[in-house]
Amino acid sequence: MRSPAAIDIEQLSFTWPGAARPLLNIPALSLPPGASLFLQGASGSGKSTLLNLIAGVQHGYRGSIRVCGAALEQLSPRQRDQLRADNIGVIFQQFNLLPWLSPLENVTLGCRFSAQRRHNAQQRSGSLEAEAARLLHALGLGDALDQPRTTASLSIGQQQRVAAARALIGTPPLVIADEPTSALDADHRDRFIDLLLSECAASGAAVLFVSHDRSLADHFDNRIGLTELSRATAGGDAC
Ligand SMILES: Nc1ncnc2c1ncn2[C@@H]1O[C@H](COP(=O)(O)OP(=O)(O)O)[C@@H](O)[C@H]1O
Ligand SMILES: [Mg+2]
Repeated sequence: MRSPAAIDIEQLSFTWPGAARPLLNIPALSLPPGASLFLQGASGSGKSTLLNLIAGVQHGYRGSIRVCGAALEQLSPRQRDQLRADNIGVIFQQFNLLPWLSPLENVTLGCRFSAQRRHNAQQRSGSLEAEAARLLHALGLGDALDQPRTTASLSIGQQQRVAAARALIGTPPLVIADEPTSALDADHRDRFIDLLLSECAASGAAVLFVSHDRSLADHFDNRIGLTELSRATAGGDAC
């Protein structure tokens, strides 16, 4: 059986309460299983809002957002939380790691709310910890495992790799990344994106990566600008 699209959006419109016009107006957006998409948009254009809508943590939209076949608007808050825990690995702009924990502990947290992802990780490497260590090695962070240290003591580039391993553990079918490279120099940035994409390809995960930085676009299978995707006015034609 064919897997459903990782993301399938139809006629999405989102307006912040009190705002005069919609921030997002997206007639259609689809991300097939295993594909990668780079979504470019200026600061303030709504990239993080869109990712929060897809992750099911922001509500109040019109239209339809399907994630791995499930229409978010038809789910209860609890079902949405479970869908996110099972299916979406999130890499946040500020990483959102727990600084006092070790890198390995931060990575295993990615499976905390998902029996399915714990099961996948155990199947892959024998235990959750072994899979976390495998991912950290694959992302070039083997050194961070050699001595017990807190995540706070790592460099920004290393913390970013911990955040990527946490998103990838348990092979979620969708990884979403919100400008995770903004604090890195060009060299580290390019290496990080290539590592992330090769790990996602190995696990079959689809990737939606958003950034203001157009120079990142070439790393991805598909690329689009948020302005191309959006309609300028509610109910208007695509521009
Ligand atoms: N909680 C909120 N309430 C009202 N407006 C918000 C809120 N969060 C963000 N916005 C507004 O939505 C717009 C898009 O924000 P955001 O999605 O963070 O953009 P981007 O990630 O592309 O920089 C901005 O104008 C911002 O001020
Ligand atoms: Mg943002």
